Amino acid sequence: MQSFDKLFGGIYKGKTVLVTGHTGFKGSWLSLWLEKMGANVVGYSLEPPTQPNHFGLLTINMTSIIGDIRDSGKLDEVMATHTPEIVFHLAAQPLVRLSYREPVETFEVNAIGSLKVFEACRKAGSVKSLVSITTDKVYRNNEWVWGYRESDPFGGYDPYSASKACAEIATDSYRNSFFNLDRYGIDHNTLLCTTRAGNVVGGGDWAADRLIPDIMKAVSRKEPVIIRNPKSTRPWQHVLEPLAGYLALGEKLYQGEKMFAEGWNFGPSDDDVLSVHEILNIIREFWPDIEYEIQANPNNPHEAGMLQLDWAKARTYLKWQPVWKMNTTIERITNWYRNYYQKNEISSLDDLQQYVADARALGLDWTK
Ligand SMILES: NC(=O)c1ccc[n+]([C@@H]2O[C@H](COP(=O)([O-])OP(=O)(O)OC[C@H]3O[C@@H](n4cnc5c(N)ncnc54)[C@H](O)[C@@H]3O)[C@@H](O)[C@H]2O)c1
Repeated sequence: MQSFDKLFGGIYKGKTVLVTGHTGFKGSWLSLWLEKMGANVVGYSLEPPTQPNHFGLLTINMTSIIGDIRDSGKLDEVMATHTPEIVFHLAAQPLVRLSYREPVETFEVNAIGSLKVFEACRKAGSVKSLVSITTDKVYRNNEWVWGYRESDPFGGYDPYSASKACAEIATDSYRNSFFNLDRYGIDHNTLLCTTRAGNVVGGGDWAADRLIPDIMKAVSRKEPVIIRNPKSTRPWQHVLEPLAGYLALGEKLYQGEKMFAEGWNFGPSDDDVLSVHEILNIIREFWPDIEYEIQANPNNPHEAGMLQLDWAKARTYLKWQPVWKMNTTIERITNWYRNYYQKNEISSLDDLQQYVADARALGLDWTK
């Protein structure tokens, strides 16, 4: 296996890193990557949200703690025991449609839960780098063709988007009140940023009402997948793309670079902002067995139609950029699920190694 030790300036090797939401789709990929870089990974979250789940299929050498982020007592205990220097906060109720059924719980977990994580970090005092994951849906959606910038107003039609926008406002308050940049190194040693990525796809996601998991579950049952909104466009990207951005931010904050303690967008190239229909057509090139039926129901709850992100800030200051084009992403994903359903194997480590090799070939800063 190629060495991962030197990625992101080699800062993760030997560091204790807390990942909230490690049993989820993105958190499990992040934990795998951190472990391969030699970090001492501590995970804190509820049980895996689906069965099967990526976390359960991986064998990661890490400490896994099952707990609720709203349980401040338990969070404080975990922080005091493990004294992490770097925290990635991903735990959330991440589903738009579920948020219509459970709005209050969604706000509790996503907004108040985030505050409880920040508060635990504040009390612990060990955390230098705190990266909080929100979403591209935090921007007030005007259904326009332009990508949203980090300076655009927050909003949120559905409870999920609004709860994450609340988390952003709460973050800003914490950054002003407790992790103030002018008081850094004087009253505190914590730099806090937020990250807003688009629709993330990859092997090992079985969440409800998401396009790729819906397609893969249907094809495994030899059934057509039901498509709700074929014309919706989203900034699709492989899960490893935003994770590279989160890890790059984790490194900058750890090194005390205050200008990175802000909000950051991570999106795909413009020509990879595709409609659901276009994504389906690419997937079928790699797995022709996939069939679909379009059932647009006017009674479906509202979901944003057009959503794009402007990630010029990440490209300019963080030197981040996507590594894989959509064809490569879709090919890797279909292979991942085909291996799983047909051979009972998973290819996550292989995906990670290829991704890092391709990023190295592009000469990206975080690989040097
Ligand atoms: N997947 C995407 O396309 C996408 C896009 C934008 C943003 N995000 C954000 O990325 C993060 C991870 O999303 P995901 O797709 O991996 O979701 P997921 O549902 O797979 O994982 C969510 C994780 O949070 C944990 N969790 C939920 N409620 C909790 C609670 N009260 N206390 C402790 N842990 C709790 C779950 O156990 C799980 O580990 C979320 O913050 C989500 O909003 C995801």
